[in-house]
Amino acid sequence: MEKNIAVLSGDGIGPEVINQSLKILDAIGKKYNHNFIYHKCLIGGISIKKTGIPLTKDTLDTCLGCDSILFGAIGDPKYDNNTNLKIRPEQGLLKLRKKMGLYCNIRPIKVYKYLLKKSPIKKAYIENVDFIIYRELTNGIYFGKKGISKNRNKAYDICNYNKKTISRIAIRAFKAALKRKKKVTLVDKANVLATSRLWRETLKEINLKFKEVQLDYLFIDNASMQMIINPKQFDILLTENMFGDILSDEASAIVGSLGLLPSSSIGKKTSIYEPIHGSYPKAAVKNIANPLGSILSVSMMLKDFKMNKESLLINKIVKNSIKNGIFTKDINSKKFFSTKKVGDFLVNYILKYKKKHTND
Ligand code: IPM
Ligand code: MN
Repeated sequence: MEKNIAVLSGDGIGPEVINQSLKILDAIGKKYNHNFIYHKCLIGGISIKKTGIPLTKDTLDTCLGCDSILFGAIGDPKYDNNTNLKIRPEQGLLKLRKKMGLYCNIRPIKVYKYLLKKSPIKKAYIENVDFIIYRELTNGIYFGKKGISKNRNKAYDICNYNKKTISRIAIRAFKAALKRKKKVTLVDKANVLATSRLWRETLKEINLKFKEVQLDYLFIDNASMQMIINPKQFDILLTENMFGDILSDEASAIVGSLGLLPSSSIGKKTSIYEPIHGSYPKAAVKNIANPLGSILSVSMMLKDFKMNKESLLINKIVKNSIKNGIFTKDINSKKFFSTKKVGDFLVNYILKYKKKHTND
């Protein structure tokens, strides 16, 4: 099969982790006879540096014309410290998500038994944790009208939702729950926010069409605590944009490292696959970043391409590398490997796997 993939490495550790992912994709292509064609584009801080804006028409057009988008990371501290700037790297990703209609962000949270001791949370609480965060990605406070007064004494960010923007992701969440433990937990702040009350009303109605699915509600403050003291209760955790952003970073403490978590953002047509971590500028160009979040995002991409064997092979080899202690420094361990070494190990495994496979 031939697939055109837009490759947006972005900032910080983005290019390093993407390099490993492309090595893996090449190996998979070789083994299964696929032709993955990469279209490298600028985005974020590096795009501002080279073109003056974080998302050019060129990049957007390439993305629109491809079968999928592989995204690295975005952000540069030099912009964070200057609150006066109108142009920022993150705008590139937000605009891309909005323009591509990628309203549904899927972030699987699954513990590896080999890493149970690496989490700061006790083993008994996190053993067998397996849930998926469904985060609404193109509305809410991120995208509402925002502004700051001339004298910089007042500012506002409006949070918007409507029945349509809630129900389209909710339906996807309920469908996903049907294939799993049949439970959706809506995280909101319905005791304070009008948008949260609309989420509850809309979900109640949709639940009537998915009667086998149990629908629970949690307030965001309580949910943040429940995620640590009883994460096993979750199956599909559905929430709005900003709550989902915060909760997914919190969830990474369960798994052992933010660097391990992948995501897909789906909606209209072409999807984005990206690790949930940021650009981690302090680690950039040191060959220490964890490539597994990006590599597991490639696995999600292949699954969506209906390349199931290929996707499963990646999950299998990642599990194996973790089992054998082949991981980067962020996993709390005395022994660790470089970004590139972890990538090489995985590529080797795929090629060896091929030999074994063709010999029998
Ligand atoms: C994420 C990131 C982004 C977000 C930033 C970089 C805009 O934190 O994908 O979780 O907040 O959505
Ligand atoms: Mn985030």
